[in-house]
Order: sequence, then structure tokens, then C-alpha cells
Amino acid sequence: MGSGIAQVGSFFGNQIRLVDRDQQCLDRGLATIQKSLRRIVDKKPEEERGGIYEETLARIQLGTDLSTLSDCEIVIEAVFENFDVKSEILKTLDEVCPAETILASNTSSISITRLAAVTGRAPRVIGMHFMNPVPIMKLVEIIRGLETSDATYRITEGLTKSLGKVPVEANDFPGFVSNRVLLPMLNEAMFAVMEGVASPQAVDQVMRLGMNHPMGPLQLADFIGLDVCLDILNVLHDGFKDPKYRPCPLLRKMVDAGHLGRKSGRGFYEY
Ligand code: CAA
Repeated sequence: MGSGIAQVGSFFGNQIRLVDRDQQCLDRGLATIQKSLRRIVDKKPEEERGGIYEETLARIQLGTDLSTLSDCEIVIEAVFENFDVKSEILKTLDEVCPAETILASNTSSISITRLAAVTGRAPRVIGMHFMNPVPIMKLVEIIRGLETSDATYRITEGLTKSLGKVPVEANDFPGFVSNRVLLPMLNEAMFAVMEGVASPQAVDQVMRLGMNHPMGPLQLADFIGLDVCLDILNVLHDGFKDPKYRPCPLLRKMVDAGHLGRKSGRGFYEY
């Protein structure tokens, strides 16, 4: 997600710092950006391509140190769905960045209010939830924490529009709107497979051909990452204490086995 957000930010003219603690992840992120950008630029008529590809890449600086973000106007955190990891990073950013910098989280389900509370700048913390693949999907779900200020909301909304995306506002409840609605469907598809109702291929075909979904739910779960799906379902389950969000045991088993979907080469499908 981080590389996709960096790509879109740069494509629309912003100076970007892309930080990961691991150089290999940065290299992989850059390769993803190059591939995606190529696809986008190659679709344009020859005369419109100009230096878009080179200029977009040139605006992205890679680094492994969060302190290099000290002069950024907005920082979008996009590490994996774990409260402790996210809060550690937000605490560091709170120390490193000037008071006026907005700290946005790309969390797909964790409470923005709770994340904001680990910083000393709750009014300038907000959720900015992009969808995968970021360069293609139009939506950014914008989540106000309890103390997010109107000014922070307006700036984030304006930035979202300037990236060619459509902002949709949501309040801070587990899973917000997108994953509160999406994940129970993916989970139910997994239960259907576990209970032998149908094969993954058949479940996906039903939803693709019968409901016009661009991807079947199991293909989509593999695409999102099965570990991420499990993390989100755990947040929903813990947050609402409602058994309807209980993660499918088959999902737990696959994550335990390291079958995380597309990124690990194996999930409901092999890649
Ligand atoms: N970068 C650039 N271009 C891309 C791209 C990428 N990463 N991925 C796809 N494209 C482009 C292709 O070049 C192609 O362009 P043209 O139509 O102009 O040729 C177009 O998008 C369609 O791609 P494909 O033909 O390769 O495949 P497709 O028609 O199946 O579309 C898809 C791919 C857009 C991913 C589509 O399958 C889709 O919309 N899937 C559902 C995605 C979804 O639900 N995302 C949300 C996940 S939930 C989430 O992200 C949030 C969370 O918190 C979990």
C-alpha cells in the first residue's frame, strides 16, 4: 500500500519520501512503482507521455530513517495492521515532525482515536484509508478520530481530491465502512469452502459471474493478504464482541501455515 500511495502522491506532483526500515522492502516497493507507472504511462498517446515516468520517479526519495520525514507536511503511515507497531511509529513521528504536520494512518480497521491518543497531537491525526491497487482504485475512506479537527479533515479531503481520488467520510468504528461490509463477505466465502459447500473456484465464479464482482471473494482475500484479512476480522470481532465477525477457522489455519495469499505464493490459489 505504501508504495502505491507514494506513486500516486508523486504522480500528482508532490515531493515524496518513502520510508521503510528494511532496504529490501524499499527496493521491492520501487520495483512495484516502476511496473505500475509503466502500465499507466504506456497507455497515454506518445505525445502526452513527455517525461512523466522519469519525473514521477525522481520526486520519490527512498530512505530507512523516520527522521528524514521531519519536514513533511503530511505523513501517511502504512505498516501492517498491528496496533503496537503502528503506535510505536506514530510516537516516533510525533517526536520527529513539527507540530503542524498531519499524521495520517492508512489503517484498514484500527481505531483512529486510539492511535491519535499515543501522540500529543490528536487534532492532527486522521485516517486515510486507500484501497488496493492504490493507483487504480478511486476511493479514499477518510476517518475522523474523536478529536480530529475540522481543519485536518479539510486539508486531508483536499489532498485526496488532488490525487484524483474520491474522499468518503466515515466515523471511527471498527472496520469503518469498507471492511465492516467487505470482510464478513470474504469470511463467509471461507466458511463456505471450509464446510464443503463449494470449491474456491466455484465460490469465486458465483460472485464474479452472478454478482459482477471484478474478483471473487477468495481471489480478493488472497490479493489483500490472508494475514491482513485475519487482522481485520480480529479487530471487528474484538471491537463489536459480536460472533458474526468470528474469523473462519480455515483462515486461521492458512495464516498459521504461512499461506498468506498472493504475496507468499500460496493462499486459496497458487501463484
Ligand atoms: N497499476 C497500474 N495499472 C493497473 C494495476 C496497477 N497496480 N492493476 C491493474 N491495472 C490496470 C490494468 O493495466 C488495466 O488497464 P486497462 O483496462 O486500461 O488495460 C486495468 O487496470 C484492469 O486490469 P487487468 O485487466 O489486469 O485486470 P482486472 O480487469 O481484473 O482489474 C483490478 C484488476 C482493478 C484489481 C480488479 O480486479 C478489481 O477491481 N478488483 C477488486 C479490487 C478491490 O476490491 N480492491 C479493494 C481491496 S480492499 C482494500 O484494499 C482495503 C483493505 O483495507 C483490505
